Order: sequence, then structure tokens, then C-alpha cells
Amino acid sequence: MSRFLPVLAPAPRPMAAPVNERVAPRAVRISITDRCDLACVYCRPNRKDGYLPAAQRLTAERWETLVRGLAQRGIRRVRITGGEPLVHPHVVDIVRAIARVPGIDDVALTTNGTRLTALAPALRDAGLRRVNVSIDSLDPSRFFRLTRGGRLSDVLDGVDAARRAGFRDLKTNTVALAGENEHELETIVRWAWSLDATPRLLELMSVGHGARLSSCTMPYPAMRARLAALLGDDDPAPEPDRGPARYVRARDGVHRVGFITGASESFCAGCDRLRVSSDGRLRPCLATNDAVDVTRELRLGDLAGIGARLDEAWAEKPDGELWRGCREDAARDVDMRSTGG
Ligand code: 5AD
Repeated sequence: MSRFLPVLAPAPRPMAAPVNERVAPRAVRISITDRCDLACVYCRPNRKDGYLPAAQRLTAERWETLVRGLAQRGIRRVRITGGEPLVHPHVVDIVRAIARVPGIDDVALTTNGTRLTALAPALRDAGLRRVNVSIDSLDPSRFFRLTRGGRLSDVLDGVDAARRAGFRDLKTNTVALAGENEHELETIVRWAWSLDATPRLLELMSVGHGARLSSCTMPYPAMRARLAALLGDDDPAPEPDRGPARYVRARDGVHRVGFITGASESFCAGCDRLRVSSDGRLRPCLATNDAVDVTRELRLGDLAGIGARLDEAWAEKPDGELWRGCREDAARDVDMRSTGG
């Protein structure tokens, strides 16, 4: 035995098949802009942190080209995100163009809701089917503080407008923050249920600026404890084809609550999701900055080339072990605004 063997040799573990060998890409999450009208404390350092230069932003036409190329390689679901996608001046055109792409059977959008009042009907007409609204507090002053200036009533009106425009299956996203909104979690869940929406609670991930607030992360058991009056002891179950959330049925047998536990466990197994940053780079995983530039292919309208870049990005998709490492390390550099939370 060599005396140079490390004293604390890592325990041998079974080799898992790399994720990219197990799952084909089926979903894409496109961050159509890194701009946002809010500056949530876990996302941005302040309101003046700067945006991508205009020249690096993709046009509506380029986004359509991208989705066409990806659809030819088996992508079926598109989620539009940001930044805040509704500050993009052409978001309705982008939705309309993408919804028409052969092979795409689901177009969804994640928004902070502030502009839904103006845009919900047009988005619906353009072919958007599902909307998720991020809302971290129902208390106007806490909402203002957590978003650095946001007006809660804008979001509440926006959610109303989305329902009136015919969006069913609404979901809400709430990042649970210890010492901040933790006392509100039950209220938020009841509020979402009262609107026929499905509430989801998220562990704060140490990604990008969020790494600085990691002491506020509420692990899943702490979130559950806050909802003890509403939920039984059921284990949460994943929803097939619907991303990383796991859902728990409420005691009333009717409603449910989703949990996204990105801080305490990886959801790499079964991840069929690609991300595209607002400057046109394919990102195989949220937790790393690995990216494949596809802007040249977009400029040329080279659909086969887009597929080839997708294969390259997918080959770099890390497995769960890397995700765990990334949580502590590389993920700090990830910019959620240009990648899409
Ligand atoms: N951890 C967990 N969720 C986050 N989001 C943004 N940054 C983080 C983070 N570091 C959430 C947003 C939004 C969703 C798309 O991602 O609040 O609801």
C-alpha cells in the first residue's frame, strides 16, 4: 500500500450512468431577457446592476429559429422566462411564433406578474397555455422590501387578469426565506388555493446572488412544519414530465402543494431540460456556467447546426454528484437573470 494514499479516501460509490445517457432533451427554458422590473434580494445585488448590451439580445425571429431547431431534435415543451419575460417588448410575438412551431405542444411562461394585467389576454390569444407567477409575500411592505420596490397590488391584479383571460392550471412560486416570509407560507398556500392555483414552495438555492443569502434557506422539513395544519404525512410525489416539483396532497383531499427542493437534493435524475440564456447560449444545467454558443447558427438560420450544438451541450450535462459540488462552488457564478430561475 502506498503511504501516499490520502488518509480520508472517498468512499467508493457505484458509478451512475451520466444523465445524458439516460434522458433525451424534451424541455427547454428560454430566458428571453435578463431585464427585470424588480430586484429580488436573492437574485440581484441592487436595481442598478446592469443588463446585457442591446447588441447581444436576440430578436423574436431568432428565438423562433432556435425553437424550430430544437424541436427538430425532439424538444416538445418550452417555458419562457427571464429576467422578467413580460418586460420584453416583443414577448407576445415570441409566444405566437413559438406556439406555431411544429412539434412544440406546450408553451408556458414564468413571470413576476406585474405586467399580466396588460398582457394576459394577448398572451392567451398568442397560444400561451400555462403561467406560473412568482410571489414571495402577501404583505405589501414585505413584498416591497423583498423585491426592492415592487407593488404587491400589481401582482394580485395580474393574477386576477390571468384567470379572467382563461388561464387555468395557474401555479405560484414562493421562495421560502427563514426570518422573512416563513410565517406567511400557510397564508400564501391558502390564498393560492382560493384562486384554484397550485402553490409551490422553493428552497432558496445557492446559485448566483442567492449564495449570499444561503443562511435564509428553509429546508423542506422546515417548510413542511409550517404547513402542518394543511398537509398530512404523505410523501411528495414527482409529476411525470413536469419538472422538478414534487406534490403533496392536502388533508382536505382536494388541494395540493408543490415543493422544489433544489438546495437539499439534486433533481438530476430524469432531468430532460435544457436552458438557453438571453444572449443565445445553450446551458445544460442550472448549477454550472457551461454553455454552448448558438448565435452563429441562429444568424444563419441553420436548424441542423442548432441540433448539433444541442448535442454538444447535452453531452456536458452533469450528473447529481456534480450538482452537489456545484451547489457549494461554481454555482455562485451563475447568473439567474440571464439563465432563468
Ligand atoms: N433559489 C430558488 N429559487 C429562485 N428563484 C430565483 N432565484 C432563486 C434561487 N436562488 C425563483 C424565482 C422564481 C423562479 C423562477 O425561481 O423566485 O419564482
